[in-house]
Amino acid sequence: MKIIVINGSARKNGNTATMLKSYLEGASSVSDVIETKIVNLYELQYTGCIGCLGCKAKKGNNYGKCVVKDGIYDLLREVTSADAVVIGSPIYFGEITGQLRSFLERLVFPLYTYRLDQKILTPKRFPVTMIYTMNVTKEMFDQIQLGTSLKRLEDLMERIFTTPDTLYAYNTYQVNNYDNYELEVFSEPAKAEHRRMQFPIDCQKAYDRGKKTAQSLLE
Ligand SMILES: Cc1cc2nc3c(=O)[nH]c(=O)nc-3n(C[C@H](O)[C@H](O)[C@H](O)COP(=O)(O)O)c2cc1C
Repeated sequence: MKIIVINGSARKNGNTATMLKSYLEGASSVSDVIETKIVNLYELQYTGCIGCLGCKAKKGNNYGKCVVKDGIYDLLREVTSADAVVIGSPIYFGEITGQLRSFLERLVFPLYTYRLDQKILTPKRFPVTMIYTMNVTKEMFDQIQLGTSLKRLEDLMERIFTTPDTLYAYNTYQVNNYDNYELEVFSEPAKAEHRRMQFPIDCQKAYDRGKKTAQSLLE
């Protein structure tokens, strides 16, 4: 049983990574037979899909597989054979990060077909969890309908894998010392209070989701 966690943030100890680690702790608490792995995308050298259509070539053995031999070639194969996948991203300009987007292009396009029967080539429909962290408050998230742009990605994940379970951490604390940066629009005391009171609850939710996913894999 293998759960792969994809960190789409550049920060290995940032808000997203902290949530993902809580998820993994929850999953690991269930049983030793659950193998877990965290992948920091920003440590890998790769591009988004280059549109070579090698994954759709009729000849050869690569139908349904990305043929681009760069830093995620093996990882893509590992992810498609995992038992559960967790994807975390900070929100950058209302979307997931570019690095994660590039990774998902490479993961999803080979599994997506242009066949008349619209067959999806996913070998295993594993559970997917999406974890997002962001500066905006829940109220702002709703007001600017940020969920609508994220839903497009979630719909795609649903089509290729399964309906993703989603988890959001709002109003995150961005830097260790707000005085050192020009971040006037944010109230540091309000952010600090939110981090003290709410972020542990968000991490606990991630822990519980990890535990639940692991338990479901053992059923
Ligand atoms: C380039 C960039 C763009 C960002 N854009 C947004 C945004 O559109 N909305 C938002 O709520 N937060 C935005 N943020 C804030 C991050 O999403 C937030 O601080 C997040 O929790 C950082 O996660 P990390 O600690 O894992 O890097 C942005 C941050 C950066 C660096």
